[in-house]
Amino acid sequence: MEPVYVIGAGMTAFGTIDQSLTELAEEASFEAMKQSHCLDQRVDHLVVGSQNPDEFVGTGHLSTLLADRLGIVPAGATRVETGPSSGSSAFEVAYTMIASRHSDLVLLVGVEKMSEVNRGTASKILSKMMSYENETRYGATPTALAAIIARRYMHDYDLTRDDLSLVPVKAHRNGAKNPLAHFQKEITIEEVRTARIVAEPLTLFDCSPTSDGAASIMLSSEEWVKNLGVKDQAVKVLGFGHGTDHHAVQHRLSLTSLGATVIAAENAFQMANLSPRDVDVCELHDAFSILELVNMEDIGLANRGKSIELVRGGRTEVFGDIPVNTTGGLKARGHPTGATGVAQIHDIYNQLIGQAPKGLQVDSPRIALTQNIGGFGNNICVGLFGV
Ligand code: COA
Repeated sequence: MEPVYVIGAGMTAFGTIDQSLTELAEEASFEAMKQSHCLDQRVDHLVVGSQNPDEFVGTGHLSTLLADRLGIVPAGATRVETGPSSGSSAFEVAYTMIASRHSDLVLLVGVEKMSEVNRGTASKILSKMMSYENETRYGATPTALAAIIARRYMHDYDLTRDDLSLVPVKAHRNGAKNPLAHFQKEITIEEVRTARIVAEPLTLFDCSPTSDGAASIMLSSEEWVKNLGVKDQAVKVLGFGHGTDHHAVQHRLSLTSLGATVIAAENAFQMANLSPRDVDVCELHDAFSILELVNMEDIGLANRGKSIELVRGGRTEVFGDIPVNTTGGLKARGHPTGATGVAQIHDIYNQLIGQAPKGLQVDSPRIALTQNIGGFGNNICVGLFGV
């Protein structure tokens, strides 16, 4: 297979943003094109990750619209959707195009604008990714399913409320230093515990917000890394895994493990010939605080029921030995669903080239991992990147 490199990245601020869906995608994409010296190059293909643009803002046919707005016609253009892992699945398509020697330069953009609809409508749109027969018809939302997982995990592993709060406290501590994060404010354990309940036992601060935002990366073949003279800023794609699980949570083998993560991580590590011990920094899908703990265990970064020990011991902090979600994660950086997977790669890319925001740079990382969940825990991607 042809080696594939990330050679530039761009991202908008995440939050409640005035710009339209297309303006957000344009801003992030032009930044990635500029940083990779590709503004006046012939881009072979545009791949767009977006979960529900038709329903959140009423925009259809997004891939062609963006190819036109970005000035890259007649490049091929494709939109990919796998729920909140749409950005990572779009990356998989872009990666495969270059690895298979179909293309040399592929632009990837992930985008979502969720603030134009009210809370009830946003929840209804997001809940469509869940099983109607088994979950949505009974009023379940993603937060309700995460709450069931949290309860079971707390019961099985004696996790306390204040232990769980350490996860969002860390996320907000990192987000406070990230100028693009949705929330740039630190919070305390006390604030998490006493915040309003969203779905018992999860409070407001256990949940990621609904955000607007876009992130973009440029992918290149080895030959074009040379042609463009961007070797010093090229990060290699080392591995990628993608797995699914049964649609409804009640049909899965476990409540405290996501089988799709396990298989995606195994495949990614096998492809890269690496193990969890090799990872220097990672971005995990903490849409709800409990998921950060479950994800670490499913990937093999911690033993079952023990991930909280790493959090408690400071090992997942920016200056720890296994930093997790250094730019705030979905909790504080924000979660414009289709953009999240690309934002994770954007942030990992900046870590690996030493350009993370001030106070968030990990000491000389060489191997980085991303994990992005689609559906409610049933369509999951894991990526490995290195310098
Ligand atoms: N964390 C921290 N603060 C949050 C927040 C969050 N997740 N969500 C909203 N806020 C803040 C807002 O900034 C606002 O603050 P302000 O009053 O200082 O301006 C305040 O809380 C009210 O915001 P609002 O949007 O009205 O809150 P809400 O109660 O309607 O929504 C949630 C809160 C948690 C229910 C909503 O963010 C949610 O549904 N999150 C989950 C999204 C989801 O399921 N994503 C898919 C996962 S795979």
